[in-house]
Amino acid sequence: MIDLSVNFAGLKLKNPVILASGVWDLPYTKIIDFKKLGGVIYKGLSLMPREGNPPPRITEIPCGVINSIGLANKGIKVFNREVLPELKELGTEVFLNIFGESIEEFSKISSLIRDVSGIEVNISCPNVEKGGVYFGRDPETAYQVTKAVCENTDLPVIVKLTPAASDIVVVAEACQEAGACAITAVNTFPGLVIDIDSGKPLFERVVGGVSGPAIKPLALYKVYEVSSNVGIPVIGSGGIGNYEDVLEYFFAGATAIQLGSVIFTNPLAPIEIIDNITKYAKEKGYSNLKEIRRCVDG
Ligand code: SIN
Repeated sequence: MIDLSVNFAGLKLKNPVILASGVWDLPYTKIIDFKKLGGVIYKGLSLMPREGNPPPRITEIPCGVINSIGLANKGIKVFNREVLPELKELGTEVFLNIFGESIEEFSKISSLIRDVSGIEVNISCPNVEKGGVYFGRDPETAYQVTKAVCENTDLPVIVKLTPAASDIVVVAEACQEAGACAITAVNTFPGLVIDIDSGKPLFERVVGGVSGPAIKPLALYKVYEVSSNVGIPVIGSGGIGNYEDVLEYFFAGATAIQLGSVIFTNPLAPIEIIDNITKYAKEKGYSNLKEIRRCVDG
């Protein structure tokens, strides 16, 4: 019997495989057995409903995708009423990804979150006018946002960082000091697609967030840098498509991992990865994940 459980943010997850925010919603329960997952992160919620950016919002690129969704969502109040009851039935740990355009908005939304396992604070979205990546590039603002969230909730707080920070380690340290109990490294990389018919950027907001295999070595290095320097667990995210990628993230220092755009091409990837890590551990004679990972539990 292989024990795949991991501890972070004061929680025990049955395994390290977590679905990232924004790539799934409740209809996926028809395809994926959510009870088998370590956890899920529900897509970015704000205090008030948001329309998001005008189309086009997403396009394929070689080895990945680039999106400019703009954090479209129903807002926390409608979410609490209409979505939360169903999420509570999923049989896995549920985290909410939250977003605000000001520190005050982060405080307010945090105080309205209940009945979930934890909060993932998004200071890393490249596709919005205010907030997002602008908060995550600066250690001082990252500190203020994290502190505001921690002061308004008793739930574990994870902060999702942007690879666009000039020194991601300094930002991670600021979040740790402000009370974060884990770091997600990393959100999408800012990128650009030009429509050659018009000669203009494809997305109205110009910048998009690049994800998928194209960013895996880049994201992996960010995980290595952060996990080598901060004392809280790091959840690795960026271009993971199979169990070999997950192992690389473990060896780089991740405690757990998030699956993002692979869900678009292979929705069964999470279950395949859990099965293949189990097989790998058996073949190598490991009885638990701690023997494989170079990481911090918490
Ligand atoms: C978006 O909604 O634009 C993507 C979310 C993110 O990058 O955090």
